[in-house]
Amino acid sequence: MKFQNDLIIRSANGEDIERYPVWLMRQAGRILPEYRAVRKKLSGFKELVKSPEFAAEVTIQPIDILNVDAAIIFSDILVVPEAMGLNYEMIEKKGPYFEKTIKSINDLSCVEKEFDIEDRLGYVSQAIKITKKELNSRVPLIGFAGAPWTIFCYMTEGEGSKTFSKARKILYTDPILAHELLDSITEVTIKYLKLQISSGVNIVQVFDSWAGILGKDQYVEFGLKYINKIADAITEVPLTIFAKGAYNSIREISAMNCNTIGVDWNMNINEVREIIGESKTIQGNLDPCVLYSSHSEIEKLTNKMLDSFKSKRHIVNLGHGVYPDMDPEKVKTFIKTVKNYEINY
Ligand code: CP3
Repeated sequence: MKFQNDLIIRSANGEDIERYPVWLMRQAGRILPEYRAVRKKLSGFKELVKSPEFAAEVTIQPIDILNVDAAIIFSDILVVPEAMGLNYEMIEKKGPYFEKTIKSINDLSCVEKEFDIEDRLGYVSQAIKITKKELNSRVPLIGFAGAPWTIFCYMTEGEGSKTFSKARKILYTDPILAHELLDSITEVTIKYLKLQISSGVNIVQVFDSWAGILGKDQYVEFGLKYINKIADAITEVPLTIFAKGAYNSIREISAMNCNTIGVDWNMNINEVREIIGESKTIQGNLDPCVLYSSHSEIEKLTNKMLDSFKSKRHIVNLGHGVYPDMDPEKVKTFIKTVKNYEINY
């Protein structure tokens, strides 16, 4: 398919680009007043996620308003545990809450993995199809899922946590349970990503938001092992792996079947480049808090990051999602700065 702007795909594939592509994690929702206006029409976040027409509308808003180089489908990583049998609520100003959590091997009886994916997650597929139609090939559409370890965190903890000690405890007290659950999540996630691909997404990203809370050995055993299965299974479109805080595992991730490695702001881009060489694209990694500074400071720090790149294989982004209280005008300054930057080689 021909896009008016396919920079992000070309960059992911290591092909030539005339400028660096830019988008923001969590660009759909969170910051735009236009998003909140749509959200107000519905009873809550979950209803929006499950209303394909509205989900498509808020997916496209950042393309029209922020002028980013890719859209990301409006949904959440938590639709997967929900489809597997654990219902969640999104509590205003607090975040997700699961009434039922996995504490012991007996609890696995309420977790399903053999179900028709389209039956339970068809609303995402519909949102993708509507979005594709309305995007009309302007820019590529990114699909996504949580990495098995991050989904495991929510299924065992039931909510956000500073330590995720309930999730980490299980790795020591019941590794068999941990592997069984991680295996089920992985199986469902692969089917889910394939559903998104057959519905029309052009790139997929796996978010391992809680990668950084595990030590290296445990991350290899309970995190990377399962991301690797996903990477091997997803062959149809370019894949991005964003494992936040996984500085110690960049080498292992770069050995996987992925195109792009997401990097948070704690990692040094040049060190990452030295480790991975030219074989992968790097996505990231401006500290999101830079967007709280003045317009001129945003320009300066964004240019400083761009100047530090020693390769064309970059997709520009923040080092994590944009924060809800950020001024869209500041976000626009970041995007404009990237778009005006001339690559020197
Ligand atoms: O990137 C995008 O804009 C696409 C949509 C998207 C959402 N969630 C919508 C959302 C994506 C890619 C996600 C991923 C997600 N969800 C992650 C991984 C990325 C990351 O930031 O680390 C995680 C850990 C979640 C779980 C989740 N969903 C939490 C902890 C919360 C509450 C706090 C918050 O806003 O992040 C959500 C809710 C959520 N997901 C909102 C949006 C727009 C806010 C809900 C609202 O409208 O009130």
